[in-house]
Amino acid sequence: MPKCRICGRKAVVYLRHSRLWLCSEHFNEFIENRVMRTIKRYNLIRKGDRVLLGLSGGKDSVVLAHILSKLRESIGFKLYLAHINLGIGEYSEKNAEVAKKISEKTNAPLIILDLRKILGVGIPELALKTRRPPCSVCGVVKRYLLNALAVELKANSIATGHNLDDMATFILKEFLVQNLEQIPKLAPRIEGVKDYLVAKIKPLYETYEEDIKKYAELNNILYVEEKCPLADETTLTWHLKKHLRDLEYRFPGLTIGFIRRLVKNIEKYPKPGDTIRRCSICGMPSSGKICSFCKITEKALGKPMGPHAREYIKEIVDKSIID
Ligand code: FES
Ligand code: ZN
Ligand code: ZN
Repeated sequence: MPKCRICGRKAVVYLRHSRLWLCSEHFNEFIENRVMRTIKRYNLIRKGDRVLLGLSGGKDSVVLAHILSKLRESIGFKLYLAHINLGIGEYSEKNAEVAKKISEKTNAPLIILDLRKILGVGIPELALKTRRPPCSVCGVVKRYLLNALAVELKANSIATGHNLDDMATFILKEFLVQNLEQIPKLAPRIEGVKDYLVAKIKPLYETYEEDIKKYAELNNILYVEEKCPLADETTLTWHLKKHLRDLEYRFPGLTIGFIRRLVKNIEKYPKPGDTIRRCSICGMPSSGKICSFCKITEKALGKPMGPHAREYIKEIVDKSIID
């Protein structure tokens, strides 16, 4: 029976990328240290920060909520959780339930934004009416609501559960289609702009998806295992991720090596040309005159809903007892 490299007790996990057998205690330590190092290396969270974590209910954001809640004292920051109920039937209800439980467990205040309460419709209807792929509409909606909430909460950053495999896949995809100016936008930290665009951080940037799953299993962390019923498994991104996983299996450590070298070279990539303006309807960040959220909602509902959504969020924040 293999033994833990650190303490010699019975090992329960083998980390291929680091050629390391570990017991559960030292595996937890390994993962938490890795997240801490990522935070320090890329200056993701500073003492006194207010961090808003987008909690979907899936394993990545749930594990991140647990780890950040453990690190919050030693770094000295405040952690808030935001869950967006996307109105995708039972799938969304399950996720909302998990989000509530995680909030209790981590002792971090949770704000739930319910898309059907804000717009009267969920992602499926928005996608249908705008004739856009659900995931792209969903991305716009989530980014918009999270940023608007973070602005109201005066958060310093929005943390998301994107892991190493996700980020390596997104970067490879942009490289394959030679959208090189998108690559700097995939860095571990993206700065905000004034008081209307909050910085984005990815503390799991250097953590393998497989390790996140193991961390959840070993610590009995509850999360929603099923995939979104609207997810499209025929996209280039989906295939790339699958192949990258196979390559990683054959060449352990390939993904982490790639991502670390990439971040070192990120300055060499062309800077995104689009300047960030403010939407003329709702005042939120936009690359054009009108933001994507206002455009999508106008197309689907006949009226741009940015101002209404912002007002709704402001009321929720005013009502909640969050310091
Ligand atoms: Fe966004 Fe499925 S979670 S489309
Ligand atoms: Zn050990
Ligand atoms: Zn707008």
